[in-house]
Amino acid sequence: MAEASIQAAALPPDSVAPPPDIAAHPPPLVARLTGITKRYGTNTVLDGVDLDIRQGEIVALVGPSGTGKTTLLRVLAGLESASGGRAEVSPSSTVMFQEPRLIQALRVWKNVLLDDAHKPGALELARAALQDVGLQDKLDSWPVSLSGGQAQRVAVARALYRRPELMLLDEPFSALDAFTRRSMQSLVLGLWAKYQFGIVIVTHDLDEALILADRIVILSRGQICHETRVALARERDVTSPEFNILKRELLEQFSLSMN
Ligand SMILES: Nc1ncnc2c1ncn2[C@@H]1O[C@H](COP(=O)(O)OP(=O)(O)OP(=O)(O)O)[C@@H](O)[C@H]1O
Ligand SMILES: [Mg+2]
Repeated sequence: MAEASIQAAALPPDSVAPPPDIAAHPPPLVARLTGITKRYGTNTVLDGVDLDIRQGEIVALVGPSGTGKTTLLRVLAGLESASGGRAEVSPSSTVMFQEPRLIQALRVWKNVLLDDAHKPGALELARAALQDVGLQDKLDSWPVSLSGGQAQRVAVARALYRRPELMLLDEPFSALDAFTRRSMQSLVLGLWAKYQFGIVIVTHDLDEALILADRIVILSRGQICHETRVALARERDVTSPEFNILKRELLEQFSLSMN
């Protein structure tokens, strides 16, 4: 399903105007969905979704439960084939779920490398990846000995080790407490600043969407019904008036999407 790597292309008409410098020199696309539909039997879950994601862009996907967010992410990841439309996604993409999906029978470093664990210098490769998430001292630990936040950091290291152009995250921090969640958001932003991969993150948390995203997309009944560009400088202050004006607008659009 994942088609050829996407080269820089002319920007399609954008429903939300990008900042002028980006409009003049858009980064290359890492994913383009065109008219994606997905049906399960008679149930149409995705209904003509168009979505571009550019290198280094963070897109948050929000919307009521059951509107097709996970399905859309799975189509992007190549885990689900679309019933119609075209999905062109960088082959260098990686997906992370709500639960870290570590293999309990493997030590942390092998969980990071998986099939690469037999490579020469494997341990050092894993150490470098774990250093990025602040867990180099857990190299030899078993997954069972990790906290929820640490386990999710290992999952981030595993994704990062593959140097993805696009990271697909499905509610990755929703099982974590508020404090750990904030620290994971900062971690992801730090890694994003360092490696400049694109991100699509599904979240139910509008604060999380506003903290992380360049663009917030609301999905309702399988269609994109609203997009908001978040032109606030990072690190974002959740108490600032600008943040809360955007949050209020988003909440209004979110409520409309439920009707
Ligand atoms: N494999 C499947 N077979 C049949 N129906 C499915 C399958 N996967 C998802 N669906 C249906 O597709 C719809 C969208 O599901 P999806 O998981 O994408 O929603 P979601 O927006 O991620 O919801 P949530 O916010 O609760 O995670 C639901 O009606 C669901 O029952
Ligand atoms: Mg879901």
